[in-house]
Amino acid sequence: MYVEKIKLKNFRNYSDIEVEFNKKVNIFIGNNAQGKTNLLESIYLTSIGRSFRTNKYMEMIQFNKDFLKVNAKIIKKDYDTEVEVTIENSNKNIKIDGISKKKTSELLENLYIVIFSPEDLKIVKDEPEKRRRFIDRELCQINPSYFSDFTNYKNVLLQRNSLLKENNINLDFLDILDIQLSKYGSAVIEKRKKFIEKINSISSEIHNSITKGSEKLEIFYSPNIEYKKNNFELEELFYNKLKDNRNNDLKQRTTTLGPHKDDLQFFINGINVRSFGSQGQQRTTALSLKLAEIKIIKEEKDENPILLLDDVMSELDKVRQEYLIKSLSEVQLFITTTEISESILNKFSDKKIFYIEKGNI
Ligand SMILES: Nc1ncnc2c1ncn2[C@@H]1O[C@H](COP(=O)(O)OP(=O)(O)OP(=O)(O)O)[C@@H](O)[C@H]1O
Ligand SMILES: [Mg+2]
Repeated sequence: MYVEKIKLKNFRNYSDIEVEFNKKVNIFIGNNAQGKTNLLESIYLTSIGRSFRTNKYMEMIQFNKDFLKVNAKIIKKDYDTEVEVTIENSNKNIKIDGISKKKTSELLENLYIVIFSPEDLKIVKDEPEKRRRFIDRELCQINPSYFSDFTNYKNVLLQRNSLLKENNINLDFLDILDIQLSKYGSAVIEKRKKFIEKINSISSEIHNSITKGSEKLEIFYSPNIEYKKNNFELEELFYNKLKDNRNNDLKQRTTTLGPHKDDLQFFINGINVRSFGSQGQQRTTALSLKLAEIKIIKEEKDENPILLLDDVMSELDKVRQEYLIKSLSEVQLFITTTEISESILNKFSDKKIFYIEKGNI
C-alpha cells in the first residue's frame, strides 16, 4: 500500500497544503524546525488516529486556530481509501470514504505504518515503558482484538489505581476490578507472548544477515506475571496473585503487578545487550527489530506497511544504511533529513525530493 497524497489544514506549521507523494521513495530535506517531522506526524495521524510525539492531540492544531483537518488518499492492492481526521473542540472525528466512524480503532485497518526515529535506536537501553509502547503500538495495528483488550486493561487499571487512592476502599468493588483486570490482562499477556516469539525469530534472522553471520540475536519476553500455556490458567493465576498481593497494593496505593510492568530482554551471542552490548550492537538490534516489524505486518496483512524514517539515516553507518535501503525496495518510504549525501541519493532509483521551509513544501 502507499499514500498517494495528503491534504493538511491548520496542522502545526502547515496552514493549507496538498502534497502528492511518490509510490516508492520520498525524501524531505529542510533545516531544523521547518516542518519535516510535522509532516510525518500528519501521515501517522491518519494511520493510528494519534500522534507519535504527544498524547495531547490538541497540540497538533495550529496556534491560534480552532481545528485541524488531515485528508489522505491511500492506494491498496484491491481498493483505494480516503481517510479524514478532524480535531475540533477537543473532539476527534474520523471519516473513511466520507462515512463518519465512531471508534478510532476503525482507522487501524486502513494504513499500516512503521516509524523509525533516533529515539527508536535507543529502545534497548531505554526504560521498559518504551519497549512496552513498541509492543503495544505494533500489536494494535496487526491485531484489532489486542487493541480492545489493551484499552480495557488500561481503563480497569486506571479505575483500580484511583480506587486504591481513596480513603475508605470498597473491597467488593476492588474484587470486581481484580476479576476484570485479570481477564483483560491475561489476554494482553497471551498476545504479547505470541508476538514476541514471532518478532524474535524474524529479527534474529535479519540481525544475523546484517552482521554477516557473526551475531545471534535473541529476544525474550519478560512478563511480570509468569506465563502459563492455558489462558484460563493464566487468568486465574493473575487473579490469585492480585489477591495475595492486595495488602501490598493497598499500602502502596497502586497496582504493583501486571503486564503494565512487562519488559523485553535482548541477547547477542548469549550476552545481555542492555548491560554489555556496544552502542553499535544496540543500534543493529533496533534496526533488526524495525525491519522485523515491517515483515510481520506484511505477513499478517498481506500488504506492505509504509515506513517513516525521521532523521535516522544519518544516525546509521554505511553498512546499516545500505542494508536498510536494500531491504526496503518494496515499501513506500518517507525520509526526513537536514542534508543527504549524493551517494545515498543515488541508491534510490524511483524517488521524489521535497524541500521544506517554514511550513511550505
Ligand atoms: N501547533 C503548532 N502550530 C504552529 N506551529 C507549530 C505547532 N507545533 C509546532 N510548530 C512549529 O513547527 C516547527 C517544528 O517543526 P518540526 O518538528 O516538523 O521540525 P523539523 O523540520 O522536523 O526540525 P528538526 O530537523 O529540528 O527535527 C517549529 O517551528 C514549531 O514552532
Ligand atoms: Mg524533526
